[in-house]
Amino acid sequence: MAEPLRVVVTGAAGQIAYSLLYMVAKGDVFGPEQPIILHLLDIPVMMGVLEGVVMELADCALPFLRGVVPTDDPAVAFKDVSAAFLVGAMPRREGMERKDLLGANVKIFKVQGEALDKYAKKDVKVLVVGNPANTNALICSRYAPSIPRENFTAMTRLDQNRAQAQIAAKVGVPIQQVSNVIIWGNHSSTQFPDAAHASVTVNGQTLSAPEAVKDSAWLDTVFVPTVQKRGAAVIAARKMSSAMSAAKAASDHMRDWFLGTAPGRFVSMGVLSDGSYGAPKDVVFSFPVTTKNGKWEIVQGLTISDSARKSLDVTGKELEEERKEAIAVIEA
Ligand code: NAI
Repeated sequence: MAEPLRVVVTGAAGQIAYSLLYMVAKGDVFGPEQPIILHLLDIPVMMGVLEGVVMELADCALPFLRGVVPTDDPAVAFKDVSAAFLVGAMPRREGMERKDLLGANVKIFKVQGEALDKYAKKDVKVLVVGNPANTNALICSRYAPSIPRENFTAMTRLDQNRAQAQIAAKVGVPIQQVSNVIIWGNHSSTQFPDAAHASVTVNGQTLSAPEAVKDSAWLDTVFVPTVQKRGAAVIAARKMSSAMSAAKAASDHMRDWFLGTAPGRFVSMGVLSDGSYGAPKDVVFSFPVTTKNGKWEIVQGLTISDSARKSLDVTGKELEEERKEAIAVIEA
């Protein structure tokens, strides 16, 4: 029997965690027979709510959930963890500027980087979900110098899943017949959802997504903005932000990182940029990656059209601006 894996989820009393904890505890992420000890971090005022979540986890009667550690202390939460889902963040309130939100949240991710550095396993894999996810991941890695920087990633898998779902619906095929849709750049409205390299299997035949869709205007004028604005559409309908789908995406991201991508398939992750595809260096930029033995690698050699180039530059520029603002807040 494998040793239990310690996994921390921050923001554990929140919306996304409420779906995510069940997925992790029942074996969707680390394999169905991997024993798990869940560390649940939230802020002091949420400890009562967290108690209820702990009760429900017990009542799920899950065979491979070997322990639950609820806490408001980062030293306890990050102790010996091998995987970290950093979901907890301050939500945007009415009247709050994007800058104010960025300021509040990068400070949280500085503190959590320091705690990971001190208490987590040195090979911990960190997925940042809390927004602004890319820049939070960058800041977190900077304050955890003893952990390799490639171990810090940001979630754009929800955008990828949304993009895949749009194409599957348009062509009229099940979701698993669509692969290799790419999200480039920031998890924000400047992201570039790119179907140019995606494939769709139709009646046993593999076609490129543009061939299968047969409607290039739809790709430019409907697909791209629908994916970019899907988060806002869910908020408008639900009066709350995406939670179930965000939890599923976090599970998908961490599972693929731990267990590897299937041959011929790639996925999108926000990772430390090495300048591939002309992206700015030293920002956390979403690229197509393959994963093997717990390591990701950026897919190389894809052709970038002139209009894609412009979109990549816009989202890259936004990430450079966010980095500048984040550093100014932290050093103030
Ligand atoms: P929520 O407001 O329901 O839950 C957030 C939880 O984090 C709360 O329980 C809060 O008390 C906790 N928290 C705040 N500061 C904390 C700290 N310093 N340490 C530990 N916990 C802390 O929010 P929800 O819906 O669960 O979303 C969480 C984050 O995920 C938000 O920032 C949201 O914008 C982001 N998000 C990111 C997506 C992505 O694709 N990257 C998709 C959807 C949401």
